[in-house]
Amino acid sequence: NSSKETEGSGKAEGGDKESASGIQEMTIKISHVVAENTPKHHGALKMKEVIEKESGGKIKVQVYPNSQLFGDKDEYQNLVANNVQFIIPDMSKMVGNDPGFNIPAMPFLFESDDAANAFWDGEKGKEIFKRLEKDGVLGLSMWPNGAKHMTNDKKAIKTPEDLDGMKIRTQGGQLLEALYGQLGAGSASIPFGELYTALQQGTVDGQENTFSNIESKKFDEVQKYMTIMGHTRVDYALLTNTKFWDEMNEETKAIVQKGVDEGTKVARESAEQLNEDALKIIKERGQTKVNELSEAEIEAFKKALQPVYDEWKEKIGADIVSDAESK
Ligand code: LMR
Repeated sequence: NSSKETEGSGKAEGGDKESASGIQEMTIKISHVVAENTPKHHGALKMKEVIEKESGGKIKVQVYPNSQLFGDKDEYQNLVANNVQFIIPDMSKMVGNDPGFNIPAMPFLFESDDAANAFWDGEKGKEIFKRLEKDGVLGLSMWPNGAKHMTNDKKAIKTPEDLDGMKIRTQGGQLLEALYGQLGAGSASIPFGELYTALQQGTVDGQENTFSNIESKKFDEVQKYMTIMGHTRVDYALLTNTKFWDEMNEETKAIVQKGVDEGTKVARESAEQLNEDALKIIKERGQTKVNELSEAEIEAFKKALQPVYDEWKEKIGADIVSDAESK
């Protein structure tokens, strides 16, 4: 049995595919776009720790944060090419692959991370993940980050009318574009790695994100206002290359699966706390003026955005959105 070594940079390096048993030696790459102090990075580091420990060092895991290896524009295609074995994109960047990934952009749909987790762990969520199989991509689990809030450089947002005439950066997709369009705002999709500069240079007036993303990338340094509104969410899909996955023998796969399970647990358990901590830090830094919408103010946004919600409920699939609403 001459073991065929995997060659070239396009593969998990050194994978001994022929061995029916025994841990396969290889190097796995995990790439993502956010900073270190985020649930995504914490989850990825847990995967590394578990996989390296359980394999006795036979499997090496390299984690690349901050778009160091691949950014928003090229991480998916590099996963398809198996140049990276795991990516964890914000689902809003996956809407071109399937409209179901618009769920986190549906205004005020989920009330908590738990509700979002329950949807993606359920039958409808799994169906959406399954639709990536045509690309040779396997959706393994959902990692939450949390609710998004607005930052901008123009004014404290209190009413839907306050957005009128602003230009907002979004993660991408027609639903977020429609949402801002409904409020009289323009929008532009800009990769996360270029966002700080875009805000600093005034390419856009504002953006929407979680507290941990705002704090860890210091967007508050270049935005005068932050409005706590929680109108949309950042939720991630942990994705792998199907061929890479299928070619692991059972023993190796069990170790990698354990890494995935424990990484998911850490990402899920740390998201809320990291956002809470980040909000405190943003307030302490005092660079941006923070206001929080009242219940009544949120109701006004819900009302203003209802037409967009209704239209996109049909576009995503009423059965899917109804299932999400029930969580
Ligand atoms: C963003 O682009 O704002 C976020 O999707 C980044 C991320 O991965 O959380």
